[in-house]
Amino acid sequence: MSKQRILSGITPSGNSLHIGNYFGAVQPQIQLQHSAQTYYFVADLHALTTIQNREVLEKNIFEVVLDYLALGLDPEQCVLFRQSDVPAHSQLAVVLGNYISFGQMQRMHAFKDKLQKDTTVESINMGLFNYPILMAADILLYKPYGVPVGEDQRQHIELTRDIAENFNRTYNTDVFPLPEPLISQEVGKIIGTDGQRKMSKSLGNIIGIFEDEAVIRKQIMGAYTDPNRKRATDPGSVEGNTVFLYHDLINDNVDEVAELKARYQAGTVGDVEVKEKLFTAHQRMFAPARQRRAELAQDPERVKEILREGAQKAQAFAQQTLEEVYTVIGVKGV
Ligand code: ADP
Ligand code: TRP
Repeated sequence: MSKQRILSGITPSGNSLHIGNYFGAVQPQIQLQHSAQTYYFVADLHALTTIQNREVLEKNIFEVVLDYLALGLDPEQCVLFRQSDVPAHSQLAVVLGNYISFGQMQRMHAFKDKLQKDTTVESINMGLFNYPILMAADILLYKPYGVPVGEDQRQHIELTRDIAENFNRTYNTDVFPLPEPLISQEVGKIIGTDGQRKMSKSLGNIIGIFEDEAVIRKQIMGAYTDPNRKRATDPGSVEGNTVFLYHDLINDNVDEVAELKARYQAGTVGDVEVKEKLFTAHQRMFAPARQRRAELAQDPERVKEILREGAQKAQAFAQQTLEEVYTVIGVKGV
């Protein structure tokens, strides 16, 4: 039996990865490369909604590819490519805009949130408004079984399903299978170091992965713990304590974590020691990736080669779907 096909995209928006991105999206995506046929791409055309500077965009694309390769994405297992290298994405997007209403597009969160912030449609570019249609094209071209992403992408996948259903119904065809959102219940939304909100670069509540050690140490030392605990000798609460949540994710020494929790509850360990041990565990978990990233950064030709090969494979698949669609709608065959 052939393996199920999985697809996902990563916007090169310039945010360096944090452990929320990692556990919520990147790690599940990378793990799937062993059990599924995976297509992952850098959504460079999507980034134009916010990045309109050539040097910055080029740099961001390179950086995000380095992040993924360093964290374990294997180009032998997975097709890794750049969206703009496969013209079928843009071509299918032009077609799909006809199977969704303006009203439904106006109800998309990204557009509505931006409208609330900027208060007028004059300041919203059409790339942002059309973003979900291009994303539907990205997905439907590869007829994937599922799309692994974080919780904030759910609405986009639902819209993709609506477009696919509408298209299939209009032409009485089954060209597009409906894709499943693959979103983790447990780690789809990791909490930030403020102990309050979703970890997000723009909220300044992150623990990074590739920043200097001094920066990461500072981020960990500033994390929210148990606000009711005044002294290291007070019994503390482990439940809902962000530092222990991160220990559960990062620290592979489960005996140490269990012992720290017991001592914390008994009031025989201070916050500083718990955080020091988290920092050491972070180094243990990410040191190999940091090392690989530094090496790969010296070899941009290798990165380009990986993207070139990925684009060839992706194009072969995507072009077939596009031709199928062109035939169904009646622009081919004359
Ligand atoms: P950020 O919110 O930091 O700007 P992005 O929007 O670039 O992150 O998200 C990249 C991927 O990581 C998406 O699939 C998103 O759903 C996921 N993601 C972002 N923040 C978190 C979080 N705190 N927990 C889990 N997944 C997340
Ligand atoms: N919108 C996604 C994000 O911001 C990136 C993306 C673009 C994507 N096209 C996609 C994700 C197709 C999955 C499938 O994270």
